Amino acid sequence: MCGIIGYVGKKNSVPFIIDGLKKLEYRGYDSAGISILQEEKLVTVRAVGKVAELEKAALLANPKGQCGIGHTRWATHGKPCEENSHPHTDCTGEIVVVHNGIIENFLTLREKLSSLGHRFKSETDTEVIAHLIEENLKTACGATPKERLINAVRKTNGEISGAYAYGVLWAQVPGFLLGVKNQSPMVVGLGKDENFLSSDVPAFLKHTNKVLFLEDGEMAELTETGVKLLDKNGAEKPLKPVKINWDQKTAEKGGYEHFMLKEIYDQPQAIEDTLRTAQTDFGKLLNLNTRELRALQQVHIIACGTAYHAGLVGKYYIENFAGIPVTVDLASEYKYRCVPRTAGTLAIAVSQSGETADTIGAIRKAKELGFKTLAICNVLASTLTRVCDATFYTHCGPEISVASTKAFTSQLTSLYALALFLGKAKGNISEASFNSLYKELLTLSKFMADAVKIEYEVRHITKRVYKAPHFLFLGRNVNFPIALEGALKLKEVSYRSAEGFAAGEIKHGPISIIEKGTPTIVLMPADSLFEKMLSACQECRARGAFVIAVTTQEGARLAKDSVDKTIILPYAGELLQPVLNVVALQFFAYWTAKRLGCEIDQPRNLAKSVTVE
Ligand code: M6R
Repeated sequence: MCGIIGYVGKKNSVPFIIDGLKKLEYRGYDSAGISILQEEKLVTVRAVGKVAELEKAALLANPKGQCGIGHTRWATHGKPCEENSHPHTDCTGEIVVVHNGIIENFLTLREKLSSLGHRFKSETDTEVIAHLIEENLKTACGATPKERLINAVRKTNGEISGAYAYGVLWAQVPGFLLGVKNQSPMVVGLGKDENFLSSDVPAFLKHTNKVLFLEDGEMAELTETGVKLLDKNGAEKPLKPVKINWDQKTAEKGGYEHFMLKEIYDQPQAIEDTLRTAQTDFGKLLNLNTRELRALQQVHIIACGTAYHAGLVGKYYIENFAGIPVTVDLASEYKYRCVPRTAGTLAIAVSQSGETADTIGAIRKAKELGFKTLAICNVLASTLTRVCDATFYTHCGPEISVASTKAFTSQLTSLYALALFLGKAKGNISEASFNSLYKELLTLSKFMADAVKIEYEVRHITKRVYKAPHFLFLGRNVNFPIALEGALKLKEVSYRSAEGFAAGEIKHGPISIIEKGTPTIVLMPADSLFEKMLSACQECRARGAFVIAVTTQEGARLAKDSVDKTIILPYAGELLQPVLNVVALQFFAYWTAKRLGCEIDQPRNLAKSVTVE
């Protein structure tokens, strides 16, 4: 996830672009840059860090011009540094590109372009777009440079694959901007004598609320006086702008009241992006050959908080598919326990931020013990990724809300993919089963898109229970960690007391805390453990609990006389169902906190990254 902005109008574009980038910082903030067309020459200023750093650099360089583009980066290809910051240029330095998304075939294109004499200056996938446009301009038809540029960009779009949105500026066509969209967001703001291009509305909302939302395959041409929209065949389309009535703050959250809610809704995309870039060959990633992989004896998963719960689910996945014993430790405990130095150990650190001090300390210990180390992490070039031998990135974009949601489901998705790979490498599952299981995994984002539709149902149920002083969450097997996660989420954002239990354990003690009306949320899809879960519901209900079943269509039918309320999710299969079940609990926590008037995105006493021990 990155933020793009473009301006063309009568005024100096620099203040508009810098201000717009600040509004897009929620999309990424490891470096930023601008390119301004100043007297037919492009002036580019880039800086590592937040937009404030770019602003200082721009003040010094002082570029001025009525047409320009800008970018704030969330690194995916290449570490955060000035060379990898956008805008990127071609060999002539006359074409500049800002891009959001991933060009999947960039390596092949880069090789091809290099063999044609193009010289690359960065490690990014984006730079191939600039060089490809340069290459295609050589043969592009058109009576004017503008027509040739449009044709070269259209040809380029046919050659790149992946999810992308990008903006282009060519010094030979002053006062003209092009925006392209394919599976990543791109919007156009229609102003008076000025027009804007951006990844999101807040970037220009101060100046106009007339917005065009581009569809996949569409291209927008912007000049000071107007905007033209082309469909994927190059035919002009009528403009159908919409009027946005959001205030600035709401707009930054995509129209949602809180980042937490927005991030819950980001999950189908986050899963898709994580899987799109998933390197199924984890062996290559770890630099282990088949013999070494087969020799793996055990896996240690190390993490904190929500990431620890993902690790607990990962244990079920790896033991199920790969048959390798897995231990899961809280990082703060792993550091201080006696860990035997066992050959053939793979230590996996799971972390959204990659900056959690406990996790970093624990993985350092694993390294000292001679274990191979793998990070499952969301932040490129974070400390954890530099400590570990290899990293598998979850591509869920920046997670702003302190309560982790989309990072968790992306971690589950990654652990599932890793388990399948280890299963194949160990000979525990056949190539054919691997292929069919991986195919199933690729459908998860579609299930997730249906799962997020349950918000209204959950919201309604919280109305009945939000004032309760204490909540219970029950799950079994692969859903037990989800019960723990549901309780953590509720505690974090609503400050209510909540506990998660393995359903089979409640009769061994915790059942004593149930009193009349205690909300008890039970994870019970209609699977092999459904009947056991039904018994747990009855035990709790008999003692006065208000039982809310998180289940499936069939489960709801079977449980109707044993529970008080049901939340119905689509069924993705026994091992993938936890990824959907947690969505119900995320909404549950969100709506309970909202009804209680809590500070949802920044709960009291908490920080997004805990960088101290
Ligand atoms: O960045 P990390 O994933 O390493 O963070 C670990 C925990 O601090 C984090 O998951 C925390 O529990 C979240 N706030 C939970 O929502």
